Amino acid sequence: MITLRLLRSTDRPALVELFDDPATRLWNPGPDDLDTWLGQMSVPAPDHRTWAVTDDHDRLLGVVSLFDLDPVARTAEIGFRVHPAARGRGVATAAVSVALAAQPGLTVRLLHAVENTASCRVAGACGFGPPELLPANWTYGDGRRHDEHRHLRYDD
Ligand SMILES: CC(C)(COP(=O)(O)OP(=O)(O)OC[C@H]1O[C@@H](n2cnc3c(N)ncnc32)[C@H](O)[C@@H]1OP(=O)(O)O)[C@@H](O)C(=O)NCCC(=O)NCCS
Repeated sequence: MITLRLLRSTDRPALVELFDDPATRLWNPGPDDLDTWLGQMSVPAPDHRTWAVTDDHDRLLGVVSLFDLDPVARTAEIGFRVHPAARGRGVATAAVSVALAAQPGLTVRLLHAVENTASCRVAGACGFGPPELLPANWTYGDGRRHDEHRHLRYDD
């Protein structure tokens, strides 16, 4: 059972662990300045929503964000990270599903490196369409440009 809530300063230690994790550093690196980021992400913005993903004891399991939210075009992009200790038990799939349900009516993009097969599985499980291949589309945490998949999910 997971819950989405706004981030709090008490999430900081778990966020440090999450952002220090090698897979996070490679596929979805954290901010240079965690405290500034935490302050900004703790407050919803017109074009951005970030939620803490927590368990029954309010422990931080990960974060999920809808960003580049365009309320006129009704589009957004989704990103997510799961704490290494919480991986492999459906947290990302559940968190993305809950975040999408919280903001209905959007066409949402999900982009990930082709090698990041877990994200591809999350996309499939959460109702996104098949991947479109974008060659050498993004520079990841290793400093190299990687081919990406872009998935779209429509919610009319
Ligand atoms: C990608 C990530 C969010 C997945 O989180 P998770 O909570 O472990 O994912 P889930 O448990 O919901 O699993 C989703 C699917 O991926 C599969 N999966 C999980 N980890 C995997 C791995 N390391 N390799 C291959 N498949 C994997 C699961 O089996 C599941 O597939 P299924 O539904 O067909 O059984 C997590 O590994 C992570 O935070 N990675 C670093 C940051 C990152 O890559 N963010 C996403 C950028 S787009």
